[in-house]
Amino acid sequence: MKTVKISIIGFGAVGQGVARSLLDKRDYLNKQGIDIRVVGISDSKGSEINAAGIDLESALLRKKQKGTVATGAESALEVIRSVEHDIVVEVTPTNIDNGKPGFGNMRAAFEAGRHVVTSNKGPLALRFAELKEAAEDNGLFFRYEATVGGAVPIFNLVHEALAGNTVIGIEGILNGTTNYILTRMTEERMPYELVLREAQELGIAETDPTYDVEGIDSACKLVIIANSIFGQDATYHDVDVTGITKITPEALELANRNNYVVKLVCEAGNKLTVAPRLVPKRHPLAVGGTLNVASILTDLAGRITISGKGAGSIETASSVLSDILYIARNS
Ligand SMILES: NC(=O)c1ccc[n+]([C@@H]2O[C@H](COP(=O)([O-])OP(=O)(O)OC[C@H]3O[C@@H](n4cnc5c(N)ncnc54)[C@H](OP(=O)(O)O)[C@@H]3O)[C@@H](O)[C@H]2O)c1
Repeated sequence: MKTVKISIIGFGAVGQGVARSLLDKRDYLNKQGIDIRVVGISDSKGSEINAAGIDLESALLRKKQKGTVATGAESALEVIRSVEHDIVVEVTPTNIDNGKPGFGNMRAAFEAGRHVVTSNKGPLALRFAELKEAAEDNGLFFRYEATVGGAVPIFNLVHEALAGNTVIGIEGILNGTTNYILTRMTEERMPYELVLREAQELGIAETDPTYDVEGIDSACKLVIIANSIFGQDATYHDVDVTGITKITPEALELANRNNYVVKLVCEAGNKLTVAPRLVPKRHPLAVGGTLNVASILTDLAGRITISGKGAGSIETASSVLSDILYIARNS
């Protein structure tokens, strides 16, 4: 049995989803000869540390009942630096102004000789090259499948399954909130403000929806694609961005009558753009609801399109778990 020790830094929707998935998949993983032991969990109030392996069921219950997982005052950085383990799972909130606290956590992990798996797009949209270099200089893995497209395995597909192909261009819908709003506006002929309020009531849109509706969240994800797949050194400031706030039901109705839908499309290749685009109704990019989609044009395989859930606790944990297993198998 190969034992892999991990920490979970951030214990919100994604961190708890990872813990739940590890509990549910314990037998499955053991059958594959892998024992994933969580030795540290941090949230904003402190940490739980146990070198022998944390009881994840009690950690989840404590978080639910007390609002914190902490049994001690140790900070995330103290866990990353001082607790002996192999992989830091960094799942703290995205901050696209300065990348904190994720950037510092990831850099500390590499300095301490630990691999990083993350769903936190902020640090990658701001300082991807630095993080990649820190990982490579230390001979460590840096995996970030969950940062773009939630459960949709874009990076694994391109870097592993499509290895040997040159990627010519990628188009996608990478924000479920805006896709939901545009889908509902089209189907129900409702104005933007009303659909936004509905999305907020359903928990699909944040109280402050700016990052989503202005296209900033999509731009951050596009930058990670540009840097990881096209080897660029972009930040989200390099993306030409137009959001969806000015789209009217009349424009959507006109598109509809001509067999088109309007989608917030991200494009990477020669240039980086996020903008509302007319998409034919039968086109693979024309996915509805909160779905995400990526359509990848390659020289050998031609066009490959994948779509799926772009968010959700367990769905996002799926990508995190796959990155953890990649490292477990290859380190
Ligand atoms: N939710 C999704 O579906 C989804 C999908 C793809 C990517 N992501 C990304 O994944 C990351 C996590 O998302 P989430 O939905 O799990 O967020 P969340 O529910 O807000 O959870 C964030 C967690 O980080 C903790 N935290 C905040 N500051 C911290 C610090 N300085 N040190 C240690 N822990 C700290 C919070 O502590 P408290 O619990 O004490 O507040 C909380 O447990 C974000 O970067 C997000 O953009 C999320």
